[in-house]
Amino acid sequence: MSELSVNHLLGIKYLNKQDIQLIFETTDHFKEVINRSIKKVPSLRDITIANLFFENSTRTKLSFELAEKRLSADVINFSASQSSVKKGETLIDTVNNILSMKVDMVVIRHPNAGAGVFLSKHIKASIINAGDGTHEHPTQALLDTYSIRERLGEVKGKNVVIVGDILHSRVALSNIFALQLQGADVMVCGPKTLIPKYIEKLGVKVETNLRKALNWCDVANMLRVQNERMDISYFPSTREYTQQFGVNKALLESLDKEIVIMHPGPINRGVEITSDVADSNQAIILNQVENGVAIRMAVIYLLASKIKQ
Ligand code: CP
Repeated sequence: MSELSVNHLLGIKYLNKQDIQLIFETTDHFKEVINRSIKKVPSLRDITIANLFFENSTRTKLSFELAEKRLSADVINFSASQSSVKKGETLIDTVNNILSMKVDMVVIRHPNAGAGVFLSKHIKASIINAGDGTHEHPTQALLDTYSIRERLGEVKGKNVVIVGDILHSRVALSNIFALQLQGADVMVCGPKTLIPKYIEKLGVKVETNLRKALNWCDVANMLRVQNERMDISYFPSTREYTQQFGVNKALLESLDKEIVIMHPGPINRGVEITSDVADSNQAIILNQVENGVAIRMAVIYLLASKIKQ
């Protein structure tokens, strides 16, 4: 198979195993490209991409922009906080105005779940979801699972625990779908209040004891507590959260094996992860960020190939 089964990347739940395999093979190629002295290819000289960010971002925004520039696409950037959205313009009007400037592809981050799906039904452009509310963050899950494959050889058969604020996380849902498609066994671990009731229906294990979860897993993906999405308290205090669900060097050294530590960022050092763990060789956090550029190049390249047909 040499093309994706989808015209948009709205979520991992819309992909199949072959799509992920194709994205990873294409990523392998682009990883080699971005490690050359000339890190750029002319592939998308005829494509214009708009990056629409209605929510804050560091990694995803910069990574998409760099990926687009490495592919020689024309790029325009839109930040809601500096736009006419502040004057009451709707999402559809905003995007249709941008598309009338002859844009082929839209990368969107939005606080509302389903924003990308909504756009894909109303506008004529290829859409990439760069994170929609608490729903999905597909390119994050692709770069996470690609990084596991790179560190451990394969994803199939690995035990992966996602730790922390599962309830408010789009990274968790996309990772669950991506890991399961690739044959990993998935567990979530955190305070009961931060684990959605439906989660077991997705075929994942649930654990509230971090030590047990770490003893079970090959990989622990540590999530940030997403205070910006909380209007009530879900645990007694940050100190108690850290005592029960934070990883530190002493805890990792007390396990009978060395596990891989991941984090999608941004990190709250000293809360879900201590600096000695985040900065250790056991952590692949910066490898994840590095792989993000090649993953996004692959996704953009493969979707653009479908526009050109
Ligand atoms: N991982 C991630 O989505 O980070 P940003 O919010 O900085 O883009």
